[in-house]
Amino acid sequence: MAAIDGLSSLVDLENGTISREVFVNEEIYRQEQEQIFARAWLFIGHESQIPNRGDFFISRMGEESVILTRDRRNKIHVFLNTCRHRGMKVCRYDAGNTQTFSCPYHGWTYDIDGRLVGVPNVQEAYDDRFDRSQWGLIEVPQMENYKGSIWATWDKGAPPFLDYIGDYKVYLDTLFDGYDGREGGAEVLDGVHIWRMPCNWKFPATTFGGDAAHAISHRSTLVAAYGPQGEGDRHGARQDAPQTRYEIGMPDLGHGCHIHMHSKDEPYTPTWQTMPNVEDYFRSAWESRQAKMIGNLYFEVGAATVFPNASWASGIRRTMAVWHPHGPQMTEAWRFYLVDKTTPPEARDALRRYHMRYSGPAGMTEQDDMENWNYASAASKGTIARRYPYNYQMRLGVEPVPDVPLPGFVSPILAEQNQRYRFKRWLEFMESPSWDEIYPKAVTAVGRQNGR
Ligand code: FES
Ligand SMILES: [Fe+2]
Repeated sequence: MAAIDGLSSLVDLENGTISREVFVNEEIYRQEQEQIFARAWLFIGHESQIPNRGDFFISRMGEESVILTRDRRNKIHVFLNTCRHRGMKVCRYDAGNTQTFSCPYHGWTYDIDGRLVGVPNVQEAYDDRFDRSQWGLIEVPQMENYKGSIWATWDKGAPPFLDYIGDYKVYLDTLFDGYDGREGGAEVLDGVHIWRMPCNWKFPATTFGGDAAHAISHRSTLVAAYGPQGEGDRHGARQDAPQTRYEIGMPDLGHGCHIHMHSKDEPYTPTWQTMPNVEDYFRSAWESRQAKMIGNLYFEVGAATVFPNASWASGIRRTMAVWHPHGPQMTEAWRFYLVDKTTPPEARDALRRYHMRYSGPAGMTEQDDMENWNYASAASKGTIARRYPYNYQMRLGVEPVPDVPLPGFVSPILAEQNQRYRFKRWLEFMESPSWDEIYPKAVTAVGRQNGR
């Protein structure tokens, strides 16, 4: 598909305005599939979802279904979930364990490592021109297992994952490292929430990546003091603690987050007072992390997005939410919840209940957000409405907050700087044909220094 002309006239970063076409236009949406979702690194799942040989988990990359598998040699793969014969979905389960994927249409059978191993009537109906070795499942050209989290890209020319996240690694580590401070050690808690929302995928992605102003939507949740244990006001307790909040954006990479910075000397915030065993576990995990900490400051990530569509949070609300495009006005949300492998059953159950109340399709805060994304999408697509751009002028031209010893551009709360960076990155992906333009060597070098 040819690139769409004039995209830069729709994204005016100097004046902080973005055309609504970017959120509603069908042609722009198609271009996003080519320019962004076929090239960027995307979150697939976590190795804890496929612990044994033969395990598989169905995920998505943009609009397309993919299969995450662990083969007989313990190697992890990501395959497009489509038969090479006539395109049937070869796996229609959500997850499980198998030796093979057998296509129900004409019976082609694939090994869990993707090789085509069975074709009915192959002796009598095919000649030498049929080379079975060329017709295995389509595998992603690049996959990364980063501290147990699995990421993949369809572009073999994309930079390595660690370069793609660059200095943002410091923040992302708070999701995949243990709450108790050990490296790695996270796993997915129970199942995954999957549901659809009638909005453009960029609404949730930008809300998570740096939109502190939308907290007003969650006012009712705060007033209800909807704490982790189902009663009691953790938010209130935290407000007394000496913490500072910032928005942090990566200007060249498009990733962003909203952090709560704390002093190492800050005491533990009582959180699960009505559940003494759970409280004991979290207090001791917190103490062991404090003991391992270097320096006097630490942070938790309240909301964040890895460009383009993987949003997450750390602390006790550790979650990964992926906003899969499903049409210009439809998003399929997948929410994974993470927990330390060492978390005892009672604490897991308390977390599970908290996540259900807080996030996902029935969660209090997600419901607040979905109301906004749903009606903002519907009210933006009319002939007249789409003539008027959205406003991203909050703290336009803001200077970074000085003396914060963290990578990235540090904005005060409140600012829309992160969202402007995201659209800068969005425009670069949409307009640039090659990685040399999108990913300058200088950025790659920074990523390497911080990665491996
Ligand atoms: S489509 Fe799968 S065997 Fe024909
Ligand atoms: Fe929200």
